[in-house]
Amino acid sequence: MSTPTPDAHTAQPGEAPALQAVRQSIAEHGHLPGALLPILHGIQDQLGHVPAEGVPLIAEALNLSRAEVHGVITYYHHFRTQPPGQHVLQVCRAEACQARGGEALWAHACARLGCADTEHGGLSADGRLTLSPVYCLGLCASSPAMAVDDQVHARLSHERFDGLLARLNPVEA
Ligand code: FES
Repeated sequence: MSTPTPDAHTAQPGEAPALQAVRQSIAEHGHLPGALLPILHGIQDQLGHVPAEGVPLIAEALNLSRAEVHGVITYYHHFRTQPPGQHVLQVCRAEACQARGGEALWAHACARLGCADTEHGGLSADGRLTLSPVYCLGLCASSPAMAVDDQVHARLSHERFDGLLARLNPVEA
């Protein structure tokens, strides 16, 4: 049984900030052709993830089913459904990086962060960092590559990865 959904464009009194961010992104991008992806990007840019409670609002605004919206969110590795840790590490798993040790680097990252899901990464064991795969960072000639938050790093070895990890110093953050 579906529950009634508040109008996607109308803020509700006392509404959580996360839902306000969803409505804002719908207002900004909902008129675009193929608006779903711009809306999802807008939400994740604001919140760091796409909250499950926003799915009904997006579905209503775009005249889609909730399952369709959920399906797109889970299809793209880029979108998170849970808030990220203090830093987001994206390790490239696309072909050029694979050819230069990218998969071994991914496995190393999973092990160092203690991620139980070695296919998709996720939150580190201590909940402070988020590891996610990415499929090309534009540094193919200098692979393997990764990004820490918005900063990209090329020609990574396991030792360089460990060095970057140490610099994050999450215990002090
Ligand atoms: S394939 Fe990894 S940066 Fe392009």
